Amino acid sequence: MAQLLQKPLIFATCLWCNETMAQTPLPIPDTLSGSVIDLTLQEATWEFHPGEVVNTYGYNGSLLGPTLILNQGQAVTLNVTNALPDLTTTHWHGMHVSPANDGGPHSLIYPNTTWSPSFTVLDRAGTYWYHPHGHGLTDYQVSMGAAGMILVRDAAEAAVALLPKRYGVDEFPLIIQAKAIVAGQIAMHTGLDSVITVNGVREPQAEFPAQVVRLRCVNGSSERSFFLGLSNGATFFVAGTDGGLLSAPEPCTRVPLMPGERLDLLLDLTAAQGTNFELMAFNSELPTGVIGGPQVGNGMATLDGYLDNALNGADHRILGITVGPATVDPILIIPPYLVPLFPLQEADAQVTRSFTVEPQGTMPMEVIEGPFTINGALMDMDSINLVVSLGSTEIWSFTNNTMVGHPIHIHDVQFNILDRNGMPLEAWESGWKDVVYVPAMGGARVLMRFDDFADPDMPYMYHCHLLMHEDEGMMGQFLVVDPTSIGEAADVKRVMVWPNPSADGHLMLSVPGSEGQGELLVNDALGRLMFAGRLAFTAGNARVVLPALAPGNYTLRITDQHGVRHSAHVALQH
Ligand code: C2O
Ligand code: CU
Ligand code: CU
Repeated sequence: MAQLLQKPLIFATCLWCNETMAQTPLPIPDTLSGSVIDLTLQEATWEFHPGEVVNTYGYNGSLLGPTLILNQGQAVTLNVTNALPDLTTTHWHGMHVSPANDGGPHSLIYPNTTWSPSFTVLDRAGTYWYHPHGHGLTDYQVSMGAAGMILVRDAAEAAVALLPKRYGVDEFPLIIQAKAIVAGQIAMHTGLDSVITVNGVREPQAEFPAQVVRLRCVNGSSERSFFLGLSNGATFFVAGTDGGLLSAPEPCTRVPLMPGERLDLLLDLTAAQGTNFELMAFNSELPTGVIGGPQVGNGMATLDGYLDNALNGADHRILGITVGPATVDPILIIPPYLVPLFPLQEADAQVTRSFTVEPQGTMPMEVIEGPFTINGALMDMDSINLVVSLGSTEIWSFTNNTMVGHPIHIHDVQFNILDRNGMPLEAWESGWKDVVYVPAMGGARVLMRFDDFADPDMPYMYHCHLLMHEDEGMMGQFLVVDPTSIGEAADVKRVMVWPNPSADGHLMLSVPGSEGQGELLVNDALGRLMFAGRLAFTAGNARVVLPALAPGNYTLRITDQHGVRHSAHVALQH
């Protein structure tokens, strides 16, 4: 990106702090596209202030990374080389890929090695992003600068003639991050994050043309949220959310952008040539519990230093905007319609799962920094927290028993938010999402369907996207399994089950040669998961106690200590 910073610095007065500050032209990250994309995550240095050199991480550069432009339906291989002196992973946040291609905490890339996931792009046109996801490593590596944007294009988007799609001309990426610079270096203790950056520069200043412009926003901050609005009070439009476009642009004057979330915004600048205004975070207006707003925890926020950060609860600038002349072929009106949306139907949900967030152990509920548990557990790389059947439509209902709000992200799927605190949503939240804000002492429900990628071994993650909370273990793992496929036909006859019927619900399973730890999944004839649990084999036999099951046909899938899968169809009689 460094080569993009060749324009001279310009100087202007910051209206919001009555101070003259150096402003830096907004850099626009380079793009990469095609069927093979090479990314190298490396160490570098960067100057957020002229003359103050800080150590950074960047993909193919000094900070952040190129914007990947992908087309729905294309095949892509991403060669990710780790040139850091540390373990890392790279996750394609929001994209619908198999668990093995997802870049979660199990897909570690060792130093000086390359990881090469390869997949077909199935996603809708939308704003996605990539970042490291090693367990316990995410906050540090993202803070150091490892993150980039992904724009997926598709035919439905292309058909909207009035939608700006010229990258860097009438469509602009904005990776918004609050950073902590402590003792001259990036620090990940994010409570001290007092430097607002866009595309890696502070005090960014953009010149946009006098026409409709599209802002592709990512909040890549460790924990700070932004209540976006324009300093001139103008109405703007939400065209899309995390996983794609809305059916029509929704007008608004404020919209929150929580860590991990994306917004696709339209600004009508047709009559604004020659004016200056700012994209602002009106964070004094944020509700209680949002990090960045006036109050989190018990309101005695000075106790934990929250109010010591001058940005908390303050209205502050994100991006200075100057409106210059229009380009050739400008789009001059906000499109009345975007794409057809087919939200999932709540009535189609087959499974409802509940998730409760609490402070760990005996910590009081007003702690804001964690650790926080989900259903009583912290992330354990060796435990699967839940198993989902391929094709299942599910409601996940989150209850937050803490005094800080959590933006919860689920891998693999895009979901529809059903409600928050039991209340219907703002119109701009009607689109596809992969992060849901679960307010302090409140709840939210989301609805999704788990299509396409079953893998009985490799899990997907769900977690809080406040990176400190995530790293501390506010994360769980789920498997998507295909209950109808018996892939290991040769093994079917090797699994024996007895007694059948069983008087007390216990079963003995025999898998010759098995010793030690194994796993068992039991699905009924409709493919519904009835049981998931651990097995301990001794000399090829394991004892398991199943819940009360109606007599009928069941599929048992056993994973042995070598990760080898064995399946059996059993007509249980008890
Ligand atoms: Cu953006 Cu699981 O992460
Ligand atoms: Cu993700
Ligand atoms: Cu959290």
